[in-house]
Amino acid sequence: MQQAWWKESVVYQIYPRSFMDSNADGIGDLQGIISKLDYLKWLGVDVIWLSPVYRSPNDDNGYDISDYQEIMNEFGTIRDWEQLRDGLHDRGMKLMMDLVVNHTSDEHPWFVESRKSKESPYRDYYIWRDGKDGNEPNNWGSIFSGSAWEYDVPSDQYYLHLFSKKQPDLNWENTSVREEIYKMMQWWIDKGVDGFRMDVINMISKDPELPDGEKQEDQTYGSGHLSFMNGPHVHEYLQEMNKSVLNNHDLITVGEIPGVSPELALLYIGSERQELQMLFQFEHMDLDSGSNGKWDLVPWSLFDFRKVMSKWQTGIQGRGWNSLYLNNHDQPRLVSRFGDDFRYRVESAKMLSTCLHMMQGTPFIYQGEEIGMTNVQFDSIEDYKDIETLNWFHDVTSKGMEIDEAMTSIFAKGRDNARTPMQWNTSDHAGFTSGTPWIRVNQNHDEINVESAIADEDSILHHYRKLIEARKTHSIIVYGEYELIQPNHMHIYGYIRKLDTQVLLVICNFAFHQADWNMPVYRAYSTKQLIIHNYPVDDNSDLGQIKLRPYECRVYLLDK
Ligand code: NOJ
Repeated sequence: MQQAWWKESVVYQIYPRSFMDSNADGIGDLQGIISKLDYLKWLGVDVIWLSPVYRSPNDDNGYDISDYQEIMNEFGTIRDWEQLRDGLHDRGMKLMMDLVVNHTSDEHPWFVESRKSKESPYRDYYIWRDGKDGNEPNNWGSIFSGSAWEYDVPSDQYYLHLFSKKQPDLNWENTSVREEIYKMMQWWIDKGVDGFRMDVINMISKDPELPDGEKQEDQTYGSGHLSFMNGPHVHEYLQEMNKSVLNNHDLITVGEIPGVSPELALLYIGSERQELQMLFQFEHMDLDSGSNGKWDLVPWSLFDFRKVMSKWQTGIQGRGWNSLYLNNHDQPRLVSRFGDDFRYRVESAKMLSTCLHMMQGTPFIYQGEEIGMTNVQFDSIEDYKDIETLNWFHDVTSKGMEIDEAMTSIFAKGRDNARTPMQWNTSDHAGFTSGTPWIRVNQNHDEINVESAIADEDSILHHYRKLIEARKTHSIIVYGEYELIQPNHMHIYGYIRKLDTQVLLVICNFAFHQADWNMPVYRAYSTKQLIIHNYPVDDNSDLGQIKLRPYECRVYLLDK
């Protein structure tokens, strides 16, 4: 297998607004991040992915960009950014920027011009259409609730926005749009960025007919995803982008790509395709969603989780490279979702991270995950800030859903679960700010915070350090071939990795009670080394017959 630095790396995602505030305005900023670089180095991560820091009116916390080459006022200046870049590089870490080019802010000069008149040279930078019989051009709903079209009175036309109405979609069919984007990317590369995470990059090419989407009877809007995901020209554009900018540099690239199977994914990341290196797939994130989407809560099962993870492991290996994640700024906290955030918080957070990090792919850690931060339940909808959450809440409650029912979904799935401020210590506002935080801090910061976790050798944080270090020590963790074992075990997810004469045996108990593991075949290996575990273990235990305690995990390195 081809070796690469980004395969051997661990990425740490920072959501700057919630990471560290240096100037007491209650909003995280670049100087705040700079003040924590030694912490990140100590943790051992190799690459920092920065969620957007560009100028933005913050309708969607920076995912609505009004200037791609300026820094958001609240976060600092381009000088601060350069200091951050140098601080990372001096410590041997790399910087991956978020690239949001499916849409801009409606306050971006391109859109301001585009909106001025049908004759503007910028009109065609966006997707404008006439209405149909006095209605929107088609029946698509926005991913953030309501229609995906916004009516513009002066020109009597509608523009498309797959997300909020302040996030108009760019028209990638326009060559000038693509050229401007490549030029902007090149500018950042020249400034020393080491890669890009590309926001919903498989939505950039839409079926030009923009046909109505499938609509369920009880729904107001149809779903256009078949016409805007993996559209007709997406690969042509990504190959063009690769040729124009990416190819000439040794970068890390990862596309956010919902709605693909491993086979479709390989069209984006297949080694011979010259598009991207990795993608974020969503199948495992959809396991607890019902047919009505993310807010429609259904229980997930170990059976499905294991099936989906294994499908991606075996589907991609040898032909591309996986990204490994259970958390990011859009998802609930992993320990609340897949573990037990109360009685077995420490054990289950360690087990879940082990299960993920020992797979084949590049692991992504989201800020706070390394100390086992949990979901939050604010008393009132007034305390929530996320546009997706608020739009959905107002939409469904205006149509009759009980507030309690809506809040239950928000507690489980709302994006603000991931966006409460990073918990640094036990002081007011968890040490995140000396002002008033833009969003409330999780009350459990007295118990869950970086300072306490550093002091406790047994903490989740120290476990993450061990996982990262193990990856640097044993190349089997990076390059070994994945094979699922005991695919039908009721409680334990077991798999092996194989490289040359070595085998890495990974067994993870997903249950809150003891579970038995019987697999005599691994007795045959002459050397065995226990490299990761989350309970005290007697080193002489018999590998053929193990009793795993609640949420226990063990990783053994075996050799012939
Ligand atoms: C995906 C991003 O991760 C999310 O935070 C954002 O709201 C949408 N794309 C729109 O940019």
